[in-house]
Amino acid sequence: MVTLLENPLRAGLQKDRIPDPQILVIFGASGDLTQRKLVPAIYQMRRERRVPAELTIVGVARRSWTHEYFRDHLRAGVEEFGSGIGSESLWTDFARGLFYCAGDLDNPEDYQRLKAFLGELDQARSTRGNRVFYLSVAPRFFAEAVQQLGNAGMLEDPQQQRLVIEKPFGRDLRSAQALNQVVRQAGKERQIYRIDHYLGKETVQNLLVFRFANAIFEPLWNRQFIDHIQITVAETVGLEGRAGYYESAGALRDMVQNHLMQLFCLTTMEPPNSLDADSIRNEKVKVLQATHLAHPEDLMLTATRGQYTEGWMRGQRVPSYRQEEGANPVSTTPTYAALKLSIDNWRWQGVPIYLRTGKRMPKKVSEIAIQFRQVPFLMFQSVAKQANPNVLVMRIQPDEGVSLRFEVKTPGNSLRTRSVDMDFRYDTAFGMANTEAYSRLLVDCMLGDQTLFTRGDEVEASWRILTPLLEVWDAPAPPEAVSLYEAGTWGPVEAELLLNRDGRNWRRL
Ligand code: BG6
Repeated sequence: MVTLLENPLRAGLQKDRIPDPQILVIFGASGDLTQRKLVPAIYQMRRERRVPAELTIVGVARRSWTHEYFRDHLRAGVEEFGSGIGSESLWTDFARGLFYCAGDLDNPEDYQRLKAFLGELDQARSTRGNRVFYLSVAPRFFAEAVQQLGNAGMLEDPQQQRLVIEKPFGRDLRSAQALNQVVRQAGKERQIYRIDHYLGKETVQNLLVFRFANAIFEPLWNRQFIDHIQITVAETVGLEGRAGYYESAGALRDMVQNHLMQLFCLTTMEPPNSLDADSIRNEKVKVLQATHLAHPEDLMLTATRGQYTEGWMRGQRVPSYRQEEGANPVSTTPTYAALKLSIDNWRWQGVPIYLRTGKRMPKKVSEIAIQFRQVPFLMFQSVAKQANPNVLVMRIQPDEGVSLRFEVKTPGNSLRTRSVDMDFRYDTAFGMANTEAYSRLLVDCMLGDQTLFTRGDEVEASWRILTPLLEVWDAPAPPEAVSLYEAGTWGPVEAELLLNRDGRNWRRL
């Protein structure tokens, strides 16, 4: 039997243990995340026998659905978004463990009803009081739900009761601090799982292995050898019908504060003493504490925001952000953000870290590019003015892998050089199907392993860096305050200038 207390040292980045029987209670279960991601991921794990047969899911939401309706709804999700039902008898068995409980997040009686129902299920399904409460509701309801769960006595046992909170955790530093306070009143940090699905991606976990299991890179991983770092998360999708959430979030809250900052931390943190959750998270917090916007006195030099206009994506005309259903026709919500960070510590002093993310970009690509310094002296100057610097690229998705760019002599009598790539690809090396990030994270949570979840102080440290920028970007502004870029292009021209001013360019992807 695995408990929270047993977890540490060996548990970090481990994979093969099976959690105890438990009940996963999903608040906001009628929403997209449950149907598209969570349940397809859990069913897949059930097919692979990575979760116990007793695993029980209780969906909670306002709509008055029946258990049967909920089961059919989830089945449709597994068929459309997951890897299919496979054996009909397996689905039937799995579906016996799916239940729906209508309820209001702010109604204490509904929590009492739920609590009694979970007690009955413990008897019927041998789930032994183990619970994971998953908040997949709009962020403005997080505090209410946590308080109510606490008041209902459903978080009293940190060994058996865990709470997963989706992102964004807060809207800025102050609101994240306030939410952390609510969470700490209701439970203990060791039962709180702030989820960032990027940490469930194989290639994101590989960042630690790549850095700290290879002797050749670590000596180069510092200001002496690295010129700058570019972290890009580009998406082709637009708003996807999420105006209600996105209008008040924008690219900084939706992508930068969580996903990009996690990539940033794993790239720049110091080696942890061990793989246990707190050693890793301590190092992340330390690097975040040393980080700030590169020119806090002049935010124009530090960051730029953009919003997509109408354009063409793969031969299809797509609407502008302001024309999307539910979006404000004069909205200044950024769908693109680029920024420059500095880290004040021995390793990184003077090495700029550039982050960019955008929707409706020409290609889906997430990567971290480490650009090394130029050679100090080039003796081939008669043939080339400048050698291209070496670049190490860690491709997070798609085409997961790592490549190293270096110069070689081109064949022939004259002395010419050219850049070539040495390439490692996950699919050709391991032939692996990409595991859904949520599978890994859900199992870790059920096992009580917090390594791949964000700690309270970490989330605050990340908001502290971005809050000065959010304050400016949130202030009421005329529509022209945000730069426009055509859908299907690489973002506003101002983003280019951000790097050009430093004599650098964004990588062409
Ligand atoms: C989510 C954001 O957290 O991540 C979405 O809310 C975004 O706006 C998504 O599209 C991207 O995730 P992935 O795994 O497709 O890179």
